[in-house]
Amino acid sequence: TASLSFEYAQNTAASIRKQLPSTLCDPQVAIICGSGLGGLADTIHEAPRFEKSYAEIVHVPLSSVPGHEGKLILGQMGPKKLPVVLLVGRVHFYEGYTMDQVTFITRVCRCLGVTTMIVTNAAGGLNPNYNVGDIVVLNDHLNLAGLVGVHPLLGPNADDFGTRFPPMSDAYDLELRRMAHQSWRALSLDEGKRRIHEGVYSFVGGPSYETRAECRMLRLLGADVVGMSTVPEIIVARHSGMRIVAFSLVTNNAILEAGPRGDDPEIRGMDKSQLEEYLSRGRANHEEVLEAGREAAKDMQALVRHMISNFPHE
Ligand code: 6GU
Repeated sequence: TASLSFEYAQNTAASIRKQLPSTLCDPQVAIICGSGLGGLADTIHEAPRFEKSYAEIVHVPLSSVPGHEGKLILGQMGPKKLPVVLLVGRVHFYEGYTMDQVTFITRVCRCLGVTTMIVTNAAGGLNPNYNVGDIVVLNDHLNLAGLVGVHPLLGPNADDFGTRFPPMSDAYDLELRRMAHQSWRALSLDEGKRRIHEGVYSFVGGPSYETRAECRMLRLLGADVVGMSTVPEIIVARHSGMRIVAFSLVTNNAILEAGPRGDDPEIRGMDKSQLEEYLSRGRANHEEVLEAGREAAKDMQALVRHMISNFPHE
């Protein structure tokens, strides 16, 4: 229940805090790193540094997906030595976890005193203007699962975190989005071939990737990217009053590979090998997702580091 979730998160936060050096005791920023985007963790090597695998932290659920190995790191970032929490790997709803479990680590962050959440993920591109490797600053979302009742705030309200009916119209912080674009320019990333966009993320349950018809549907609904994470965490973070900025790395182009139409007129004149090639074009796979992630991850990490180096120290 709601009060239990607060108690559990408080317990976990307390058990972490007990082990921390005082310089790391009040982290203001948390960063959730998505598929292949955990490289930020390796840029924090100096003391003070605290690292624990999720398995060693009480109540934290473990991920079963390759590329999502879970660990929590606390360290200092940037010239102002801002204390940050890094969450490398997350659990997903499609693994069979409840929404409470999916968002538990977010609540632990709130209990640790975090006020700003940076969320990254790998997502499929639906906007035909996006290329693989582009970065999307989220400015809104479609919580498809939530609209039909699979929602992280379902059930008695956790009053200790926030109100019963939290607004989401302002979930994606305007000031932080502006900072993201400024950092992108300051790092001269706008001179490379990778582009940065603003767009709408649609959350789907997964684990299967979308059919072509589903891609067309999501596009019609106004989605620019599609993925299986992030939105539950953002809703819970927002419920407890955190400021949020979120980035999607476009790892495959869902709609272009799927083809814009519903029919397949071309298949009539194809032989078997042409048919196989045609089919493979529209098929998303996890390897491709991880590969695009590896290449673009550096820029994404540089972007986050630059933003943090400009954060005001509260
Ligand atoms: Cl195409 N769909 C979903 N749901 N998640 C993804 C993806 C696609 N590409 C990366 N993650």
